[in-house]
Amino acid sequence: MQALPCGPDAVVADVGFGGGVGLRPLLDRPDAPTVHGVEVSTEMIKQARATFAAELAAGRLRLHHASITALPLAPSLLDGIISVNTVYFVDDLDQAFSELARTLARPGRAVIGIGDPDAMGKLPFTRHGFRLRPVADIAAALDRAGLTLREHVKLGEGRIPAHLLVSTLNSRHRASAGDDRAAGPAG
Ligand SMILES: C[S@@+](CC[C@H](N)C(=O)[O-])C[C@H]1O[C@@H](n2cnc3c(N)ncnc32)[C@H](O)[C@@H]1O
Repeated sequence: MQALPCGPDAVVADVGFGGGVGLRPLLDRPDAPTVHGVEVSTEMIKQARATFAAELAAGRLRLHHASITALPLAPSLLDGIISVNTVYFVDDLDQAFSELARTLARPGRAVIGIGDPDAMGKLPFTRHGFRLRPVADIAAALDRAGLTLREHVKLGEGRIPAHLLVSTLNSRHRASAGDDRAAGPAG
């Protein structure tokens, strides 16, 4: 979370928030940003509505039932995006990262977290439903979307080390027309 820009008017998102492990620290940040949570799973949205009822009522959290490949968020809305252990479930990574680039404002950061693909490939359950990719392929897809990798943090030396890929918009990314910061939350 420290990798994301902060400030009293910050707007951040956790895309593919799952059980809300990333939403909580974003909501607990002292600068109290507005937080958008995006999830494709109806069940995860339902759970988050119950877990974060107070934050939803206060308007600090907005939940969206949507895919990373079609974010219901306005262009340049976000000062920071995290998406952790999500991209291995996405077939069209170019479309997903193009959506992150479209919704990110300058000089915001998009942070992609992944389990190490070599280590994950040794786990039997990743043979089904996972689209494991080398870190270099993910970095190349970020670049195609107009996001330049600024920092590659390697975490842990246990069974599954992790990678955090911190990127910002590069000069080739052209902002989309319109920046009304409007979005249609799911609740
Ligand atoms: C392994 S969980 C990670 C959850 C959470 N980010 C974390 O680190 O604990 C992957 C999550 O990605 C979500 N997901 C999968 N495909 C997605 C997509 N296309 N768009 C948004 N979320 C997606 C799944 O529903 C699931 O909750």
